[in-house]
Amino acid sequence: MPTVAAKSQLVKKEIDHLASTALTAEELMQGMVRKLNERMLKYNWVGFYLLENSPGQPPMLVLGPFVGAMTPHTRIPLNQGICGAAATSGKTVVVHDVNSDPRYLACSIETKSEIVVPVFVRGKVVGELDIDSHFPSAFGPEDQELVEYCARVLGKHLEKFRQ
Ligand code: SME
Repeated sequence: MPTVAAKSQLVKKEIDHLASTALTAEELMQGMVRKLNERMLKYNWVGFYLLENSPGQPPMLVLGPFVGAMTPHTRIPLNQGICGAAATSGKTVVVHDVNSDPRYLACSIETKSEIVVPVFVRGKVVGELDIDSHFPSAFGPEDQELVEYCARVLGKHLEKFRQ
């Protein structure tokens, strides 16, 4: 078995390839969630949430492309969940044991750990990449680096194609 670092180098190249061929952000997000779920064996649920800012409504994280079981959390207000915490702070949140984090909104009883990484466009949070694992402490520094890399690639893609 390759180390997480070696595997993550390969996966980053595959992500670069997806980014160079994807015609839309939707296609890139779908490719990324599929790739991360297939290649990183502990990434059991992988999905994007996109920040919706409708006039007169509180901002909301809305479920985008994902792989894994359907989640009850299709719309998350910014003051709820690990997802809300990452979007509000603009910082990656890694939770090694979701059951001991009072912010955690459960998606599956099998989930043990979670990472949420914000996606930025021109310095503003526009969404986030959320990954759940059935294994406790599944997300070490190399995983964090890989997931942040993916979020940056999507952010750059959106910057290029979004007005
Ligand atoms: N666990 C997340 C909610 C999203 S589901 O995991 C897919 C949270 O606490 O914000």
